[in-house]
Amino acid sequence: MKKIAVFTSGGDSPGMNACIRAVVRTAAFNQVEVMGIVRGFDGMIKGDFTPLISSSVSNIIQRGGTILKSARSEEFRTVEGRKKAAAQLKANGIEGIVAIGGDGTFTGAKILFEEHGIPTIGAPGTIDNDLFGTDYTIGYDTAVNTVVEAVDKIRDTADAHDRLFFVEVMGRDAGFIALRSGVGVGAEAILVPETETYIDQLIDKLQKGWERQKSSSIIIVAEGDELGGANEIAEKVKAKFKQYETKVTILGHVQRGGSPSAADRVLASRLGFAAVNALLEGRKNEMVGVINNKIAFTSFEKAIKHHSKLNSELLQLAEILSL
Ligand code: F6P
Repeated sequence: MKKIAVFTSGGDSPGMNACIRAVVRTAAFNQVEVMGIVRGFDGMIKGDFTPLISSSVSNIIQRGGTILKSARSEEFRTVEGRKKAAAQLKANGIEGIVAIGGDGTFTGAKILFEEHGIPTIGAPGTIDNDLFGTDYTIGYDTAVNTVVEAVDKIRDTADAHDRLFFVEVMGRDAGFIALRSGVGVGAEAILVPETETYIDQLIDKLQKGWERQKSSSIIIVAEGDELGGANEIAEKVKAKFKQYETKVTILGHVQRGGSPSAADRVLASRLGFAAVNALLEGRKNEMVGVINNKIAFTSFEKAIKHHSKLNSELLQLAEILSL
């Protein structure tokens, strides 16, 4: 294999640039040419390709976002669109692809492989940490740190004004960011889609805190919680529990930016390095991940279909430590 492509797709995440850098440097070490595809599948269809050499990825390991940008492509969902993409890849002599993204990215890569046989290795780049086959996804650690820093600030003002704050975090339909950041900030409650949320139980817990003279509280709400987002849940609580003045903060896309943490830079470098070596060894149609600190490969089929499970010990610990 003498020429590969790399692209980023789906929601960007801190560490994607570190992964691109590792792909380009590992390929260069193996005398393999790299083409960067700009704006994911959209750029693949349009033939928006740019050569990447070692110097192209200097001084980006510390940068959030992605130098190759990202985009969602409706046209790629069509057979015709994928034919155009395959023709562009062929015209550019691309023999293998490293796809950095989440389950949507790997779904597209899997279909492209099935229809056009282009070997692809996926690196899990998403803040959601919701991909089966890896303990951590690129960007998750940085996003959790961003939430912790923000909620520490909110806790200062909640304490100053004796307020109850509902803080909504990202994660799409997974609660990984909520759970880890909730434990990290000592949240009084953490609401995640993976477990049933009962308003009365939540109010009962807040009431007990009130009776113990707890003057303020923080509740972390995963955006995908089955009872709704922070605004909806705050309204439900306010209707029945009026002891605290209640406020809502939606952290939103601040969780997607920022300089990647050391953990994410190392994870991204390991996965980019392993992805190129996997292509050169003939692997295809798999996601590379880290399980128990070891590089592991999972078929796109399994990585997409299955959700990682929330850490039950962390869920239990969160419940007990927040009493
Ligand atoms: O998948 C990453 C993610 O940040 C989710 O946590 C969030 O729900 C979604 O992307 C937001 O998508 P967009 O950036 O298109 O609004």
